[in-house]
Amino acid sequence: MNATTLFLDPGSESRLVCPACALAYPAGAPVSECESCGALLEVLHPRPADGAAALRSPAPAAALDASGAAGASGVWRYHQLVMPAATDVVSWPEGRTPFVRSEAVRQWTGVADLRIKHEGMNPTGSFKDRGMTAAVTHAVHTGARAIACASTGNTAASLAAYAAIAGLPALVLVPEGKVATGKLAQATAYGATVLLVDGDFDSCLELVRAASRELGVYLANSVNPWRIEGQKTIAWELLGQTGWDSPPDWIALPAGALGNTGALGKALREAHALGALPRVPRILSVQAAGAAPFAQGFEHGFAERVRVHAETVASAIRIGDPASWERGVRAIHETNGAVAAVSDDEILDAKAVIDAAGIGCEPASAASVAGVRALRSRGVIAADATVACILTGHLLKDPDTTIAYHGGSGARANPPVRISADLREIRRLVPSA
Ligand code: F0G
Repeated sequence: MNATTLFLDPGSESRLVCPACALAYPAGAPVSECESCGALLEVLHPRPADGAAALRSPAPAAALDASGAAGASGVWRYHQLVMPAATDVVSWPEGRTPFVRSEAVRQWTGVADLRIKHEGMNPTGSFKDRGMTAAVTHAVHTGARAIACASTGNTAASLAAYAAIAGLPALVLVPEGKVATGKLAQATAYGATVLLVDGDFDSCLELVRAASRELGVYLANSVNPWRIEGQKTIAWELLGQTGWDSPPDWIALPAGALGNTGALGKALREAHALGALPRVPRILSVQAAGAAPFAQGFEHGFAERVRVHAETVASAIRIGDPASWERGVRAIHETNGAVAAVSDDEILDAKAVIDAAGIGCEPASAASVAGVRALRSRGVIAADATVACILTGHLLKDPDTTIAYHGGSGARANPPVRISADLREIRRLVPSA
């Protein structure tokens, strides 16, 4: 991994830099793409004075907001490498999610050691809150009048909540009929203006990017480099939980627009450059087979950018044209990672195993576990590997898919039992002593 020019000189201010043409912008500019070449910008920070300690033993961030919420945040404790100049942050608080083991899930994947980082335990039920606290804080600092996103549901729910906390109007664009019930309920209830678009996520994103350019609305999608800064903390928190000196061999996560894959890559790159990590875990990005342009690109050495028409039961990752393609490619290259595609049946099977273990997740999240099983069976992941799986969203996000699965003929279906109001009916179901 290349450890050069990842940090600015100590004492300087963070700035936005174009990774393609090196043009720089002030950190306060509300821009996501390079005005010269169109590439997505990234944030560079000054090298922290305390080096690896900024990640390995971060100081609490209690003074960053008036309410004190940020002191409990798993994002703002890393503020030196997220947004060092932040004050008055908009925090729920987010992060500090559980990292658990399940023997049933481990066995199903076939790897020697599996742990699960449950990002569905964030305040709005998905990992998006980690990026949104940073983006909405930045939006407030830039004087934004309104903030908008395109979404398959979770970003919309998260933006709606954080914008409400900040007192900013939010506009969320979602593909009509393709968003899970829980997410739509959240975005509506938190008070965002919900726009049901006659189109897929990819067309929603194109539309909101145009609205941002033409109308000056602050853009909260993961093309926004501050979203990436917040999401990096998933990796750092996870490495703190495994112990910085014993990182897992692999970190697996579901992939759609590739913002999170890019964030994970940047987190590992910076941690390695600071000397915080003895070795870099390999990233495994997992897509649904019906929405797998990145997996197809990987098969061909990323020779060209792939776009597909996306279809999958995992509606969160129903994305055909991933906006953070280059960020994703860099993350896979730099970590010697891999990309897999798994079928909807494999995703629903994995979800049923995770759910029945008492952990639970939404369909897209289960792709990470399904991908680990698939690559273990193909021998890409070794039998003695240590693996961390990221579950990105909560079980209750998509109740309809869960109920449909358990009413069907799947091997793990657990259909409800209809009874008359009669004790004998229950006696029949109680295991005898
Ligand atoms: N898992 C879940 C539950 C998601 O909601 C998403 C993305 C991903 C994984 C993929 O992450 O896009 O960074 O590669 N959801 C976005 C949304 C697109 O609008 O909520 P990614």
